Amino acid sequence: MKKLRVGVIGLGIGQVHITGYLSHPGAEVVALADMNKDRLQTVADKFKVAKRYISAREMLDKEGLDVVSIATPNKFHKPLALAAFKAGCHVLCEKPMAMSAADGREMISASKKAGKRLMIDFSTRFTDQSWSLKKEVEAGVLGDIYFARTVWHRRRGIPGFGGWFGQKALAGGGPLIDLGVHRLDLALWLMNYPKPEWVMGSAYNKIAAALAKKEGKAFDVEDLAAGFVKFKNGASLEVEASWAANIAEREFMETRLYGTKGGLVQRNIGEGYNSEAEIFLEREGGQFDMKFHSPVRSMKGAMHHFITCIQDKTPHMATGEEGLIVMELLDAIYLSARKGVPVKIK
Ligand SMILES: NC(=O)c1ccc[n+]([C@@H]2O[C@H](COP(=O)([O-])OP(=O)(O)OC[C@H]3O[C@@H](n4cnc5c(N)ncnc54)[C@H](O)[C@@H]3O)[C@@H](O)[C@H]2O)c1
Repeated sequence: MKKLRVGVIGLGIGQVHITGYLSHPGAEVVALADMNKDRLQTVADKFKVAKRYISAREMLDKEGLDVVSIATPNKFHKPLALAAFKAGCHVLCEKPMAMSAADGREMISASKKAGKRLMIDFSTRFTDQSWSLKKEVEAGVLGDIYFARTVWHRRRGIPGFGGWFGQKALAGGGPLIDLGVHRLDLALWLMNYPKPEWVMGSAYNKIAAALAKKEGKAFDVEDLAAGFVKFKNGASLEVEASWAANIAEREFMETRLYGTKGGLVQRNIGEGYNSEAEIFLEREGGQFDMKFHSPVRSMKGAMHHFITCIQDKTPHMATGEEGLIVMELLDAIYLSARKGVPVKIK
């Protein structure tokens, strides 16, 4: 089968995309784009990619690409996705999908118009552990899931303090749109993406604002946000995210699901990026704990999955439509936080 020609835009986390594509025999990374010339040269040299572009649009015009990864600051996700669809490419876009649900809708309609795929890099799903948990939930082990709590907090961990992550005009929001999206997607995916109905949210900028003032840095997003979501099926979910909070852990991630037959937790170990998972059951009056130990299969990551699905003409996971539900929740949490009232999602 002919190899798919891949281009990657934005070479921070975009380097993880390159590695992901290189792991697939059906893909070749033929071109890279980054506005930062030094980074472009360094990364292109490292991965031995010959075609290098300062302008992503020029790359899209000239390279006849089949697949494009977008891994730039959030503000550029939508315009670059629209340009990529126009150039006839399938798009794998970094999370968050966009700056707002309205932008996300435009991306989905452009993908439909072009007849090309749109996938969002909700990378937390693409691990053996998450996949095993999903299989247990699908087998009905938890029964009816009626509550979830999904969080990612940092004691002090503002990415690139003073840079684009902390600027609303470039990022759209703070830790909720950055970290919260991962934990939200994980919980929603495990719950089979129930339709949200009502949202209540709060957002604060207490610790980072003081730090930014002291250090003369730009920072106009929240440093902590929380949301409570009520779904149409009666279930509810609580999401929390922060980059600066007075907690014990350097980094704390946890997703819990509460079901009629069982409960589930996935949480990080040792304040790092590896995680453990357990399922809690009651059977015939006895209470059992089921601990995840080792993978039963090997997930190869979002990029590998995307290429396989394109080649096999099978549906891919982490669709634009799921990305849009996450964006609708974020919009509603931020709006509720601003207005101080619950927000209804149509
Ligand atoms: N899935 C994950 O786990 C994960 C992890 C980190 C970041 N992200 C997401 O990836 C995106 C990028 O984050 P990052 O940490 O790599 O940021 P970064 O600032 O390290 O890198 C972004 C790169 O994009 C380049 N760039 C900016 N605008 C561009 C444009 N218009 N055309 C071409 N290049 C452009 C910059 O020069 C920079 O090199 C963000 O949306 C972020 O939320 C996802």
